[in-house]
Amino acid sequence: MLARGERRVTAITVEGPRGFNGRLRVPGDKSISHRALMIAALGRRPCVIRGLSDGDDVLRTRQAVEALGARVDVAPNAEVPNAGVIVTGGVRGARGPIYLGNSGTGIRLLAGLVAGFDFTTTLDGDASVRQRPMDRIIDPLRTMGAAVTGSGPNGSSAPLAIEGRPLTGIEHTLTVASAQVKSAVLLAGLRADGPTTVYEPVPTRTHTEEMLAASGVRVGRGDGLVTVWPGEVDPPDFDVPGDPSQAAFWVVGACAAPESDLTVEDVYLGPARIGFVDVLRRMGADIAVEARTGAIRARSSALTGTRVRSEELPGCIDEVPALAVAAATADGVTVFEGIGELRVKESDRAAAVAGMVAGLGAGCEIDRDTLKITGVGRAEISGSSTVVSHGDHRMAMAAAIAGAVGRASVTVEGFEATATSYPGFARDLSRATGWAP
Ligand code: S3P
Repeated sequence: MLARGERRVTAITVEGPRGFNGRLRVPGDKSISHRALMIAALGRRPCVIRGLSDGDDVLRTRQAVEALGARVDVAPNAEVPNAGVIVTGGVRGARGPIYLGNSGTGIRLLAGLVAGFDFTTTLDGDASVRQRPMDRIIDPLRTMGAAVTGSGPNGSSAPLAIEGRPLTGIEHTLTVASAQVKSAVLLAGLRADGPTTVYEPVPTRTHTEEMLAASGVRVGRGDGLVTVWPGEVDPPDFDVPGDPSQAAFWVVGACAAPESDLTVEDVYLGPARIGFVDVLRRMGADIAVEARTGAIRARSSALTGTRVRSEELPGCIDEVPALAVAAATADGVTVFEGIGELRVKESDRAAAVAGMVAGLGAGCEIDRDTLKITGVGRAEISGSSTVVSHGDHRMAMAAAIAGAVGRASVTVEGFEATATSYPGFARDLSRATGWAP
């Protein structure tokens, strides 16, 4: 028996070079899936969600909204991968602590969602979530009037106990570019006594404000600010498109590997999420995006280094592990500026990326908030290396792609972390490249 939160540890080895070819669909977008479940839980009418992510993180959010009082049924005739659920809203309070596993989005957004209800909620997560900073949501939620108790030496970590109270609308300026913080404050704002405004110095993903507006909530958007007014939530049915952050692994693989021509279908193409396409194009990638269908087609390309500015980083923050593979196999130097937030993701991704890139034989330096990768060109990627995922799904997937693109053999230890967001990743790696476990 495995304890709660534990997974059987698995390792895989991927040897290249392998072309990436064919057509793939990726799981439903993780960010949209979390929000669809939460917003549906706030509604009164049954809401159908199609194409929900099948990853563990979203399953935890589904269980969380059920624990709070919503009902989630599998939609009849649901077909994989477009599996659907019907959510009948209801937020009445959970009997015991709610466990969000590895999900930073789950715990932070739910903290905001419950803050204005008159019950207490305890939210917890795995060892990684317990290490992630929670003061960024604790502070604004307290300012709104919720009584939030954190854990750890500074009281700024999970588990969090949130004693809901009548809330006051606030004006909050983000100190880090974080859609999770923005969303937690906006969700709390739904139950405040007046408007709540979040100012964001750098744009972040816009799903919460868009999905709330689609649910009949009064939402105002200006240059660098979002305001929500309290009120009823009346969600429409949601169709969740494919996750661009997952598509990024295949797109990088196809651009970096020889003899590749791969299309990922039905991908969400919102501008705050596809920054990785701009970065790869600057590197010389041959990528075609079809706005109507959400198809992204990527072909083998001669990649060269580029500079990713700090203002650009929130638009591709989750794609840095994949982009690092492109950078390592490119000619020349790629610089990522403003990488501070990478250190507090599912792992310290700055360190994890550096370890992976060095294992591939490319150069990597971190100087304060700048990550510099000196590519060696695809042909020079060789030898065998072991990359440890550190329980981080995106590191596990990036390392597997790295194994396929050059003449290297990469063993990915802790490959089971892929289940966090992409349980079918190994199957799709086989489909795209012919790799066999
Ligand atoms: C997310 C926001 C980002 C991102 C995460 C998902 C979201 O985190 O890295 O994977 O769904 O709002 P931050 O808000 O911490 O930047």
